[in-house]
Amino acid sequence: MSVTTKQEAVYKKYGIDADAIPEHVAIIMDGNGRWAKKRLMPRNFGHNAGRKALKLALKNCTLLGVKHLTAYTFSTENWRRPEEEVAFLMKLLKTAIFEEVPEMKKEGVRIKFLGDLTGLPQELQDQCHSAMAELDGNTRIQLNIMLNYGSRNEILNGVKSLLKNPPQDIDTLTEDDISKSLYTADMPDPEILIRTSGEYRISNYLLWQIAYTEIFILDILWPDFDLEALANVIAQYQKRDRRYGGLTDEDS
Ligand code: IPE
Ligand code: IPE
Ligand code: MG
Repeated sequence: MSVTTKQEAVYKKYGIDADAIPEHVAIIMDGNGRWAKKRLMPRNFGHNAGRKALKLALKNCTLLGVKHLTAYTFSTENWRRPEEEVAFLMKLLKTAIFEEVPEMKKEGVRIKFLGDLTGLPQELQDQCHSAMAELDGNTRIQLNIMLNYGSRNEILNGVKSLLKNPPQDIDTLTEDDISKSLYTADMPDPEILIRTSGEYRISNYLLWQIAYTEIFILDILWPDFDLEALANVIAQYQKRDRRYGGLTDEDS
């Protein structure tokens, strides 16, 4: 692969192997509320800071050569939050899409909003669809914004679509058919899953796709997630021994 000077400097600084960059990084962006609370500020202050951290993560993934960044932005369970917080998040999303799309277009970012978009306010849905159309030709990096997303709901929808169009012989159905029925159909499974804020749970995220993903639980809160945090995860990932149920080379 071709490596730019800036990329090379970052790889060197963090001990990253340019030939083993993960293609797909998934993130559970958690801890905005606690970040704000620590500063004696309302939760929404943390969400604004979280928006900036995602912008930075996208920039840093692009710099490091990651091809897919999949960010858990609003879950099917997040509707349980107070109405005022949900309304703030919907408004924040609208503003962010409006303000960020022109730059993403220039930077070669393709965007996908994945989840049950029909459950979102109509205006936001329309904006999601036009942003996806506008950035569709881009190929440098794909940003997947998981919105009104729940993994069980995604699998349920996948099963429904398979049942509507079943193969002649049910026994020919494969794992790949299931992968292809999900929102993430056209991308590789993530090599890395990062959860910030120190919570040891998956919260209904990518249950099918993370079967063999390397998991990183970081203690830092999402608004503090920076290049150092991301680069260290990638460097550590490259040192892990991914066995997929087999043995390491030296043992076999
Ligand atoms: C993640 O931060 C953002 C969303 C889930 C929308 P939180 O809002 O969950 O922050 P904490 O977990 O309360 O600190
Ligand atoms: C997961 O975070 C969802 C998103 C980051 C969008 P939550 O804060 O909603 O997860 P729980 O409630 O702690 O499991
Ligand atoms: Mg949380």
